[in-house]
Amino acid sequence: IHPAGGTLAIRARVLSYHAHPLTEGVEASHRYIEDGLVVVRGGVVEAVGEAAGLLADLDPAIPLVDHRPHLLMPGFIDPHLHMPQTQVIGSYGTELMEWLSKYTFPEESRYGDPAVSDAAARFLMAELLRNGTTTAVAFCTSHPQSAESFFSEADRLGLRMVGGKVMMDRHAPDALLDTPERGYDESTDLIRRWHGRGRLSYAISPRFAPTSTEAQLEATGVLAAEYPDLHIQTHLSENHGEIAFVAELFPWAEDYTAVYERYGLVRRKALFGHCIHLSERERGALAEREATAVFCPTSNLFLGSGLYDRDAALAAGLRTGIATDIGGGTSYSMLTTAAEGYKVLALRGQKLRGHAAFYMLTAGNADAIGLNDRIGQVAPGFEADFVILDTAATPAQRRRAERIETLEEELFVLMTTGDERNVVATYAAGRKVHSRDGDRGLPGR
Ligand code: GUN
Ligand code: ZN
Repeated sequence: IHPAGGTLAIRARVLSYHAHPLTEGVEASHRYIEDGLVVVRGGVVEAVGEAAGLLADLDPAIPLVDHRPHLLMPGFIDPHLHMPQTQVIGSYGTELMEWLSKYTFPEESRYGDPAVSDAAARFLMAELLRNGTTTAVAFCTSHPQSAESFFSEADRLGLRMVGGKVMMDRHAPDALLDTPERGYDESTDLIRRWHGRGRLSYAISPRFAPTSTEAQLEATGVLAAEYPDLHIQTHLSENHGEIAFVAELFPWAEDYTAVYERYGLVRRKALFGHCIHLSERERGALAEREATAVFCPTSNLFLGSGLYDRDAALAAGLRTGIATDIGGGTSYSMLTTAAEGYKVLALRGQKLRGHAAFYMLTAGNADAIGLNDRIGQVAPGFEADFVILDTAATPAQRRRAERIETLEEELFVLMTTGDERNVVATYAAGRKVHSRDGDRGLPGR
């Protein structure tokens, strides 16, 4: 519980998922309360139910906020993005490897400067909250300063955030390179300073196999073994040029995934961005060790990386998260991200219905990052991170709404046409941290 966690009750249409609609069936996957009340005490959900029943016993000292007719859902979770890429989004004309060297590495080189990284952290958190995202798993840069900025701002706002300093010791400009020893020492220092403080968690963050020597991957494996409960985040099998480069650099490895396996980096709470061009062996190896694949549709389309195979992951028993991948990705909105995810899957002949999409953005992503015991549901004991959604925020949506008959349809249209204009308010630990109408926004600095 965050010490500054809020106490209040919110009346709204309440929607929360507790099981996967694709494996357990839509009816068994969620609870929807047309006139619901969520009671929050000290930043944690105390009760959820029909407003008529709960209002009768509600402590009159608890402030009551009426968000009807809007939808209250768990805050969205974005399991893969890059804090230092807010000024890279929309860089023209390249695929992954050229995009990294031409735009991204030069930009990330600026982040040793605290003024640069503080400004990025402030912008990023505010923008995530404007989009209804209350938790993200973020890469910072190789500069420890960038992680300091990220964690300080998340802590100031009382957000549940996961992040880490990138480790990379080859194939990039000198200003971005650490060494096996420095990567290990700086990560250890940041873990001691930040992991478990407030609502923060540290993610061990080797950028990807091409930018680490074997000595660095070895050191990363030692760190991972010393901290078996920590998140690990990296990239895997995004682009054919990248995969060919890995085959050249690690001739002993039977495939890309085998490099990470060799150093003990494949496990529960290890998050592998992209996973587009995996073999069946690789999917099986990731699934067996309970790792997570993270689908980044706007990025995969923008960089022309390829089409994620969700059904192959499901068949292999491999968990899939869905993420923005700012700034290879082009939108901060998890609604837009789900819409583009639908289109990627459509190109593969696969489907993503409204309920399955909103499951992924909330409880599904919470499971993907192993925090499903505390976030991703609106249920007693869960942290009070919510997004309040107006499903008819624009003229086009109001026109469309006249012909909507079911919740499933309403959700699908919301994701297909939605963005931050649909986010009425965002709550973190029971405190309002964003308001569309500006009556109360971020706590001032
Ligand atoms: N692979 C290694 N680094 C990156 C990055 O910053 N973005 C993307 N999309 N892929 C990567
Ligand atoms: Zn990425």
